[in-house]
Amino acid sequence: MKSTKSTTPRGGLYVGLMSGTSADGIDAVVVKIRDLALRPSVQLVTHVYRRFPAPFRNRLLRACLHGDVATICELNFELGEAFARAAAAVIRRAGVSPQHIQAIGSHGQTLHHLPRAKFPSTLQIGEACVIAERTGITTVADFRVRDMAAGGQGAPLVPFADWVLFSHPTRPRIIQNIGGIGNLTFLPPAARREDVVAFDTGPGNMILDAVVSRLSRGRQSYDRNGAWAAQGKISSALLAHCLAHPFLQRRPPKTTGREEFGEQFLTLLWTQARRRRLPPADVVATVTEFTALSIVMACRRFIFPRIAAQTLARLEVVVGGGGARNRTLLRRLQAHLGVGTVLCHEAFGMDSSAKEPLAFALLAHETLRQRPANLPSATGARHPVVLGKIVPGGAPHGGGDQC
Ligand SMILES: Nc1ncnc2c1ncn2[C@@H]1O[C@H](COP(=O)(O)OP(=O)(O)O)[C@@H](O)[C@H]1O
Ligand SMILES: [Mg+2]
Repeated sequence: MKSTKSTTPRGGLYVGLMSGTSADGIDAVVVKIRDLALRPSVQLVTHVYRRFPAPFRNRLLRACLHGDVATICELNFELGEAFARAAAAVIRRAGVSPQHIQAIGSHGQTLHHLPRAKFPSTLQIGEACVIAERTGITTVADFRVRDMAAGGQGAPLVPFADWVLFSHPTRPRIIQNIGGIGNLTFLPPAARREDVVAFDTGPGNMILDAVVSRLSRGRQSYDRNGAWAAQGKISSALLAHCLAHPFLQRRPPKTTGREEFGEQFLTLLWTQARRRRLPPADVVATVTEFTALSIVMACRRFIFPRIAAQTLARLEVVVGGGGARNRTLLRRLQAHLGVGTVLCHEAFGMDSSAKEPLAFALLAHETLRQRPANLPSATGARHPVVLGKIVPGGAPHGGGDQC
C-alpha cells in the first residue's frame, strides 16, 4: 500500500451515508477505523435508517429517468439537506460530538449510470457542500466518477469494504448484496486485493418492487418478507422471458441500473404476464425466482470455475441488502445454489443495511489518506485511483485546518 505524507489521522470515527437504487431511504453509520499494516480495520459503532416519505421517493424515481434540469438541480440540494440530517442523527445516536468525526463519506443518490455509453458517465446527487456546511464536518463524495474517468465502470465500489471485512484465510466467500440492483463480491481464500472479483448480477429488488407496487395499486412498495411470492406459482414462460435479458450473459466486469431494467423491461414483462393471464401472486413469484436465478447463474458461470474443487464445500455466501429480508428469495437462492452455506450479514454481527454506508465511510478514510480504493479487477479501470471529492468542514466544528 502506498505510504502518504498526509496529516490525516490514521483512524478515528467516520460517518458513512448511503441511499441505494431503491431510493427507499438513507442508511447512515458511525464507524471506527484503524489503519493496520495490510489493510484498515473497521468496526460499526451505530446505524440509523431514515425512510424517504413516499412522495419524495416518487419524485426521486421519476427524476432517475425523466428528470428535467430544474428538478435535478433542486433535488441535489434537497437531498443534501436530508443526508446532513441523517448524519446529525447518527452522530447523536453514537453519543459523540461532531468534532470527533474525522469525515463523512457520502455516496449520494444515483440518478443515472451509463457505463457503456459512447461517453461513459454516472450521476450521484446529494450536495456534499450542503452536508459539510450543515455538519461542519469534512465531507467526501462523488466516489464513482474518478474510477470512470480512469476507464472503469464507476462501480462496484463496495468490494473494497467486503475485502476488508470478510476475507478469510481458508474459505472462499461470496458477498451478495440484494439492493435495488444485485451485486456480488468474490473473495478467494486469503484474497489479496487484486484477487477480488466483483460485478452486478442483475436487478435485485428493483423489478420486484415495481411489480408489487403496480399489482397492489401503490398500497405496497415491496413484497414484505416475500409473503406474496410464497403464495404464487412460477410461470416458466415468463421466467424464460426474463432470463433472456442479455445482461445476464455478459461477462464481468459489468454493472447495470434502472436504464437497463427500467420501464422498457417492465412493459414487456406486463405484456407477457397479461397474455398468459397470470394471477398477481404468480407474477411476484416468477420475478422473485428471476432474481434468485440471476444470482445463481452469475455464481455458476463466473465464480464457481475460480474455486478449487476441494474448497467449494467450504464456500460461504453472505447475503445482504434489503433483499436479505425476503424469505422466499433466500429460500430459492439456497435451493438453486446447491453448494456452500447461505448466511446473512447479521451472522457477522452487522445489520446488512449498514454495510454499504460503512463502505463509503471506509472509502472516505482511504481518500483522506490519499490511497486508491477502487479495485480495477472489479470496475475495469485502467489503474487504481484515489476516489472522491473532498469538501472541507467548517469552522464551527474545527474542521477548518483542512481548508
Ligand atoms: N422485510 C423485507 N422483506 C422483503 N424485502 C425487503 C424487506 N425490507 C426491505 N426489502 C427490500 O429491500 C429494498 C431496499 O434494499 P436496500 O438494500 O436499501 O437497497 P438499495 O441499496 O437499492 O437502497 C426495498 O426496496 C425492498 O425491496
Ligand atoms: Mg436503500
